[in-house]
Amino acid sequence: MSNSAVINLTDIDTELSSQFPQEILRYALEHHDNIAISFSGAEDVVLVDMAHKIRSDIQVFSLDTGRLHGETYSFIEKIRSHYGIAIDIVMPEAARVEGLVKEKGLFSFYEDDHKECCGIRKIAPLRKQLLTVDAWITGQRRDQSPGTRAAVPVIQDDKAFARPNDQLTKYNPLANWSSQQVWDYIRTNNVPFNELHDRGYISIGCEPCTRPTGPGQHEREGRWWWEEATKKECGLHAVNINK
Ligand code: ADX
Ligand code: SF4
Repeated sequence: MSNSAVINLTDIDTELSSQFPQEILRYALEHHDNIAISFSGAEDVVLVDMAHKIRSDIQVFSLDTGRLHGETYSFIEKIRSHYGIAIDIVMPEAARVEGLVKEKGLFSFYEDDHKECCGIRKIAPLRKQLLTVDAWITGQRRDQSPGTRAAVPVIQDDKAFARPNDQLTKYNPLANWSSQQVWDYIRTNNVPFNELHDRGYISIGCEPCTRPTGPGQHEREGRWWWEEATKKECGLHAVNINK
């Protein structure tokens, strides 16, 4: 897909949204040479597994905030060796992290809310990483966050992170899948997963901002639990909010 010509993706979304994630991924990989999977959780490893079966040289990156669980680092390493792929580990700018923790300490997000810390540790590195690609693939699902993700399309124009006068295409091939479908795929295909899932964690982010969820709780309740449900986006998916 030419990145200089801006393309309206709504019609393509209508066509792709009735297709299986594998077909959406095939479309994405056929239309962009420079496309990367944004990898962190259970959904993303399903995408890696599916994409790897289509094209073995897939690009994958993970944002290392410096605050992930030890188990998440082990999981990333397991994926790297299991699939024999390189994973770009993207770090925040050291001076900005140092400035934040010097001024406000290591747990400012419990006092201020998570926006500033996520901005430095996740959003700025993502913005930099996305300057290097024409398209990216995420594991967002619609039922992951009723307040902010209920309308996530399978393909969209990511105006939040596009280079000026350019188009950045974002694919969410699992938008219409449920958590059950993700886990059925993982079990059926023997896909490796983060061992924290066996200890009650469903949605996993940074260690200080994630906790296990109990029976009947929505998965999102384990993230930034001290904040209102409507604020539970860190900005990686700003296009969901700033349309
Ligand atoms: S978040 O915005 O609340 O942190 P969530 O954990 O639901 O996101 O994950 C949704 C998708 O965002 C993942 O499927 C993945 O594509 C991307 N993502 C989230 N965290 C990271 C990360 N640390 N590195 C790379 N991609 C991530
Ligand atoms: Fe900081 Fe928590 Fe956001 Fe991680 S999830 S970047 S620790 S506020």
